[in-house]
Order: sequence, then C-alpha cells, then structure tokens
Amino acid sequence: MREIAEKLLKTRSLDLNEYAKLIRYRANLAEWLKQEALNIKESIYGKDVYIRGLIEISNICKNDCYYCGIRRSNGDVERYRLSEEQILACCDEGYTLGFRTFVLQGGEDGYFTDERLCALIGEIKRRHSDCAVTLSLGERSDDSYAALRRAGADRYLLRHETADREHYGKLHPPEMSFDNRMRCLRSLRDLGYQVGCGFMVGSPYQTEETLAKDLKFIEDFKPDMCGIGPFVPHHGTPMRDFAAGTVELTCFLLSVIRIIYPPVLLPSTTALGTIDPQGREKGLLSGANVVMPNLSPTNVRRKYELYDNKICTGEEAAECKGCLSRRVRSIGCRLAIGRGDIKK
Ligand code: 5AD
Ligand code: FES
Repeated sequence: MREIAEKLLKTRSLDLNEYAKLIRYRANLAEWLKQEALNIKESIYGKDVYIRGLIEISNICKNDCYYCGIRRSNGDVERYRLSEEQILACCDEGYTLGFRTFVLQGGEDGYFTDERLCALIGEIKRRHSDCAVTLSLGERSDDSYAALRRAGADRYLLRHETADREHYGKLHPPEMSFDNRMRCLRSLRDLGYQVGCGFMVGSPYQTEETLAKDLKFIEDFKPDMCGIGPFVPHHGTPMRDFAAGTVELTCFLLSVIRIIYPPVLLPSTTALGTIDPQGREKGLLSGANVVMPNLSPTNVRRKYELYDNKICTGEEAAECKGCLSRRVRSIGCRLAIGRGDIKK
C-alpha cells in the first residue's frame, strides 16, 4: 500500500480503485499521511486556525432526509425561526467578539425568500463591510443563488452528502435528487461563490467504494471548503439504530483531503467534537484548519439538533469562542483574525 500513498503524495490523484484500497488498508499509513497533511497545511496556513461564527437561523425544513434530526417528519422538534433583528444582533455580537465570517445555516424554510434574505445579507454587509457572509441554506434555484450573490453573499456551503448516486438514494427520500444537488454545487461555483461541499463519515450504507467516489469528486471539483464529520444517529429518525462514524476514519479522511487539494478550507466539526471530547483537536492535528463556534441565541441551540448529544448547546457565544480558543492553543495553534479566505 505504500506505493499508493506515495502516488497520492506525488500526484494528488488516485483512481477509484486506489482510493478504496487506501481506505481499506489505512491502518499502517494513517500516521504517515497525517504528518504529511499537517506539513502541507502549515506550509500554506502556518499555525493559524480560521473561525466562522455559526448562526442557526431556522430549524424548519421541508425535506425529510433519513439521517437528520430536523427532518420534517420528526414531530418531536420544537420548531423556531430567528427574526431578522435576532440574526443581526448575533452578527453584531460576533463582530465584537472578533468574528469576520458569519455562516447563516438553516433548514429549507420557505419563510426565507430571496427578498427577505437579500435584505438581510445587504444589512449585514452594510453594518460589517469587512466580513464575509456564508450561506448554508440548502438547495435553491439558480436565480435564487444569483440574487443572493448579488446581494453580497460570498460563500455557500452545500454538502453533497455522497458522490454515489445509489448511496444518495438510501439516505434521502425519493423526491430528493442527486442530480439537483450536484447542479446546485456547479451553479454556485459558476456564480462566483466560494463553494463548500462535504459528507458524513460512517453514514449508513457507506462503503470504501462510495468514499472513493467522494474523494474523486473532491479531487475533480476542488471545493474551496469541505465539511466532513462523523454521522451521529438521532433518536427521532429512521436511522436511529445505525452506528456512529469514527474519529479514526474521519481524521484519516481529513488528512487525505488536505493532501488531494492543499489549499482547501477544512473545518474540524462539531460532530467530531461530539463523539470525542478531544475530537476537534484531533481533526486540527490531522489537517483541518477551521473551527465554527456557535453564535446562535442560547435559547434555540438545543432545538437545532441534527444528531443526538450535540455539543456547544449550553454556552454563550463568548464562552464557545473562548473554549475553542483554549483548545486551539492547547495544540500549539492560534485563532486567526480576519475573513479567512482560501489561499490559492
Ligand atoms: N449526523 C451527522 N451529521 C449530520 N448532518 C445531518 N444529520 C446528521 C447526523 N445525524 C449533517 C449533514 C448536513 C449538515 C448540515 O449536517 O451532512 O449537510
Ligand atoms: Fe462551543 Fe466548547 S466550542 S463550548
């Protein structure tokens, strides 16, 4: 397997078969590839870890993804939606705390029309012109993405979830479409967004072969950001009885993705911190370079429960940032100030 890893390091590209083998026989390669990934990250970003202030604007969603705690069929969720004033207040507080990127994330909630979102984005940009606005609001039309971009949105996160069509079909109800998701990602790229894709590690029915397709997709698409975290079952979903993904495989894949596309912005996710108290530190030490403290109002935090036992639900924004800042320093890194754009 050494030859495959060497080829990856040299060419940043493998075929599907080689990716699958790399994953299958990773045990003896992981430590080596982690060091290589860390060197690559530091050669571009040094010891800087970028922060994004995450604002969970709504847990109302028209979709019914089988894995997700806020799916529409979950009747046990207390639904909420933040008002424009609440969202702006989160940004103002975040700005004072030093955040220069705001991520507006939410379910696919029809309340957030283009008109409302454009006004909101415009106002955030007016108040904080030195900040980047990232949207993570799911699938929308090309016209909608174009309008939001014109209003000032800089980045868009839309995990592809899996690059294998059949696997996609096992995670989502029939009315959701793999092709539409991929179309969205390409439109966002064409409209000039910095685009993030990503997937869950250890999701139900995932195999080395489907993961190989995820890695090949990343190699081809070269996303500016890539969000990966372990699948964590949620008790109120059809996938409640599947096992969670592991820290080990998540960290290995973070290293491989760093090697495939060196400048990629790679978050060490809350899900990783949820399955292991040191998970986010381990992710950063495997090649990740972004963290996303929660800026949502504390009274809604527990309601944005995509998976069981999600962390950071009790803390105020300042506490969450302080906690991450300590964690980042404990491994010899520092939180960077500024928008934290990709260095490519
Ligand atoms: N476990 C881990 N991640 C999840 N997500 C949704 N449900 C879960 C879960 N049970 C992820 C999806 C989505 C992102 C916002 O959260 O990948 O794109
Ligand atoms: Fe949110 Fe520790 S990072 S509380």
